[in-house]
Amino acid sequence: MANYGSVSPVDFPIPYKIIEEANNHLIEKPQEEHEALLATLPLQPSGTPNFHPKQPFILYKGAWIAKSLVRGALAMEQHFKSRPTDLLLVTSPKSGTTWLKAMIFATLTRTSYPLDQHPLHTHNPHQCVTNLERVFSTGRRQIIEAIPSPRVFNSHLPYSVLPQTIIDSDCRIVYVWRDPKDVLISMWYFSGKIMGGADKIATFEEVYNSFCQGVNNYGPIWSHVLGYWEESKQRPEKILFLKYENILQEPVKHAKKLAHFIGCPYSEAEENQGVVEQIVELCSFGKLKNMDVNNNEIPSMSAHNISPSYFFRKGEAGDWKNHLTQEMAERLNTIIEEKFKGSGLKI
Ligand code: A3P
Repeated sequence: MANYGSVSPVDFPIPYKIIEEANNHLIEKPQEEHEALLATLPLQPSGTPNFHPKQPFILYKGAWIAKSLVRGALAMEQHFKSRPTDLLLVTSPKSGTTWLKAMIFATLTRTSYPLDQHPLHTHNPHQCVTNLERVFSTGRRQIIEAIPSPRVFNSHLPYSVLPQTIIDSDCRIVYVWRDPKDVLISMWYFSGKIMGGADKIATFEEVYNSFCQGVNNYGPIWSHVLGYWEESKQRPEKILFLKYENILQEPVKHAKKLAHFIGCPYSEAEENQGVVEQIVELCSFGKLKNMDVNNNEIPSMSAHNISPSYFFRKGEAGDWKNHLTQEMAERLNTIIEEKFKGSGLKI
């Protein structure tokens, strides 16, 4: 049996952070086996400032990705062994990752803890569900192996970059996308927080122009969305394709859909007792944002200078209206509509 440190194997997911703390002896020095390949990959074109001035994007399999995360993707390609029971949440950054991490984790563990003592009260959603390419880029592959099934992970990798093991295992994938205009605004503020001021990155107009050219982390965003959309049409039982704005509008309906998809549908008794509404409430923006664990400004999240509060800003649809001129919105809409043409997808 695998060594779980002081954590005993159980039949429900444990917050990733607890497993990592119990197994930190398994953390290795990050591998340097892919440095030669990384050095050959194209750098983002000049004149396309991005949200990570300290770390330019490189072009990997058609996507602009920060170098450390390409390193993680390459390590995953080589070492990750996906299990059919794995569950993967995929998003383009700023599309609702934090929310859906909480929803998935709470849904899976709803009978394991009383909801008022649920780990989400003491752990940020990102400490419950970790990001695969990030942990693989930081020498944590053995910890990933040590996690008991069923495992829940998140990734931002485009479909074209997912390691073959994930496709072969046929594990379930929940994909969430969001109006790209709001993704842009959300990313602008988030990066500003990390950098200690949005203007430290570039002007908003410059970042907007880069986004329109497809240069954003894991972008172009339209390719990211289309990759999973097309695949979800082929394998709807394995890829659940959701939109942030629709979940906001009908959270209970989507909570049920999610539970059904991940294999733990709500029973009639649970529905009658209002459990769906309780899960929705536990994971709601207002509730999570105000929990002490999410409400502090101290950069406490491993591997990057991020404090949990950065993941909770407005949690609304349509904030772009307060930031983009009509002309800017129309230009971005036109680009995306053109890319989505014939796919059946609409913003
Ligand atoms: P805004 O910046 O527009 O407010 P991600 O989790 O992918 O990084 O996305 C962050 C965005 O999701 C932020 O959007 C954040 O406020 C919003 N968000 C975080 N938790 C949420 C929740 N529980 N419900 C709805 N939106 C949430």
